[in-house]
Amino acid sequence: MDFPSNLMRKLELRRENESLRSLPSQNTMIDFSSNDYLGFAQDQELFDKVHEELEIYAPRIGSTGSRLLSGNFELHEALEVQIANFFKAESALLFNSGYDANVGLLSSVPQRGDLIFYDETSHASIRDGIRLSNAKSLKFKHNDLDELRIKLENAGQAVQRYVVVESIYSMDGDVAPLEELASMATTYNFKLIIDEAHSTGVYGSKGDGMVNELNLTASVFARIYTFGKAAGCHGAAVVGSPLLKQYLVNFARSFIYTTAMPPHSVLAIKNSLLLLESTQNRTKLQENIELFKKTSDKLGLDAIFIKSDSAIQCAIISSNAKVKKISLQLNAHNFDVKPIISPTVPIGEERIRFCIHSYNTSADIKEILFLLSTFV
Ligand SMILES: Cc1ncc(COP(=O)(O)O)c(C=O)c1O
Repeated sequence: MDFPSNLMRKLELRRENESLRSLPSQNTMIDFSSNDYLGFAQDQELFDKVHEELEIYAPRIGSTGSRLLSGNFELHEALEVQIANFFKAESALLFNSGYDANVGLLSSVPQRGDLIFYDETSHASIRDGIRLSNAKSLKFKHNDLDELRIKLENAGQAVQRYVVVESIYSMDGDVAPLEELASMATTYNFKLIIDEAHSTGVYGSKGDGMVNELNLTASVFARIYTFGKAAGCHGAAVVGSPLLKQYLVNFARSFIYTTAMPPHSVLAIKNSLLLLESTQNRTKLQENIELFKKTSDKLGLDAIFIKSDSAIQCAIISSNAKVKKISLQLNAHNFDVKPIISPTVPIGEERIRFCIHSYNTSADIKEILFLLSTFV
């Protein structure tokens, strides 16, 4: 059957711009690419515990339907209580992914007549949620609170105002100024929504995220925690007030019109949160992040790295062709890194995104950076 010519042209354009995507094959290279910051996705004890509990509590494959129909089990409800307690929130609602959580929350909560202000580098799931909502939206320059203030002052009347940020930005690895934003929420009368995808499991005394680390829970309207990154599982939760939960159960379409999370995933998140409380891997991860930064400074690479204290460290290498080439050179030395090309990031800001893990060795960290210094 013919493939539509306008779609064909779009694919050709991507090929011309060196931005055509394809699925990478599974590999056994040294991992500087995955979001498995603490190694939980491959933790044998966690794996065994989940299977043991699956046999005992839920020896079944699927959840059979939406949470509002046949798919609501005690396991889901118990996990939501555990999540709320873990993240110091009044209540929690599970979603099948962080993408679903952001789309569900942002498409249903802001109404016509409301205004959403969001950071220009926000994750696609935040943007897609905003695009589906009936509210008007305004983006502000990345982490630029002066510009946000100006936009808040000049935006005119709104029934309700929302500001959406990520605590750690997924493509830059830097942090949002959460304390200032929390105090601005009162001065400028907006509701603050914080996506904690990349701080879940990594920040906070037990991995309960940056909002808890900074003791800001009372100033935040909704927080999004995802379990596919440091927690090593899949799925996400929106935490906030019981009324927010009730509202989402009634209006968030990505929660309502989808099959509930299967028991295996529920038990994986349950046990991953328990493991987060006791793991030493967070300390190891912090040590590795420090070593990575110290080594890149020593090699004179600090000029190309975006300033970041998180597990995401990005070296800007402009042009899709160049960033792809250097990433392939690192792959050839058995290091798994991925080029982040435009249009995922703006043209000229293409980058190699290094994800640091608790299980990366000091020798590997030093070698990958040495290689990078010879390739750029
Ligand atoms: C900031 C941010 N929010 C949300 C998501 C989506 O989470 P999930 O992978 O669970 O769909 C991601 C994933 O890359 C992310 O980086």
